[in-house]
Amino acid sequence: MIVAGIGPGNPDFVLPAALHAIRSAKVLVGGSRALADFAVEGQCTMTIRGDIPAVLSFIDEKLREQDVVVMVSGDPGYFSLLDALRRSYDEELLQVIPGISSVQFAFARLALPWHDASFLSFHGRRPSDEELSYTPGRVLGIITDKAYSSRTIPKLLMELGWPKEAKTAICARLSYDDERIVRTTLGGAVSEREETHCVVVVIG
Ligand SMILES: C[S@@+](CC[C@H](N)C(=O)[O-])C[C@H]1O[C@@H](n2cnc3c(N)ncnc32)[C@H](O)[C@@H]1O
Repeated sequence: MIVAGIGPGNPDFVLPAALHAIRSAKVLVGGSRALADFAVEGQCTMTIRGDIPAVLSFIDEKLREQDVVVMVSGDPGYFSLLDALRRSYDEELLQVIPGISSVQFAFARLALPWHDASFLSFHGRRPSDEELSYTPGRVLGIITDKAYSSRTIPKLLMELGWPKEAKTAICARLSYDDERIVRTTLGGAVSEREETHCVVVVIG
C-alpha cells in the first residue's frame, strides 16, 4: 500500500513521485476534495469521511487483489490516517511518500523559519495547558478544527497567559486560489472571520 502526502492541496505542491503513484493507482482512497482534484478515469475510489473502520475494511478487501494508494493531506507523518494504518498493517506493507505539511507551508508563506517553533494540533484533540504555556518569544504553529478554530484557540491562549498583542497569522485554504492569510494579533483574531480548518501561527 502507498500512502501519499498531497501537501496543502494544490497539485503544484505535490511531489512528482506522489502524483505518479496517484495517477497510476487502480484503487485510490482519499478525502472528497482530493479525489475531485486528483482521481483519473477508471480508478476504483473510496471517499474518506468520518468512518475510519469502513475505510480500513475497504482497503483490506481491495488489498487481497491489488495495491491501494491512500492520499492524505499535508505530510502522512503528521496527524494523518497513517497512524491508524500503522496499527493495522506491518510497516513493510506501507510505502510512504512525504508531502509538504500545511504547517510547513504556512511558515513558508510567512517567510518565517520554523526550527525553533512548537507544532501543536487541535484537530480532534486539545493539547495540555503545559504544552500551551507562554514563554516570551515562543512560536506556535497550530492546526485547527471546527471545535478549536481561529477564534477559540486565540481566546484559550490568552486565558493561559499569552499577551493579546502577540503577533498572529490565520492561514486558511493554503495553496488554493482562494488562499486567505490574515496577519493580526491574538486579541484581534477573536473578531476576525472564523476559520475552522487553517493553520494559526502565533509569535509570543
Ligand atoms: C487531519 S489534519 C492533517 C494535517 C496534515 N497531515 C498536514 O501535514 O498538514 C487537518 C488539518 O490540517 C490543516 N490543513 C490541511 N490542509 C490545509 C490547507 N490547505 N490550508 C490550511 N490548513 C490546512 C487544517 O488545520 C486541518 O484541519
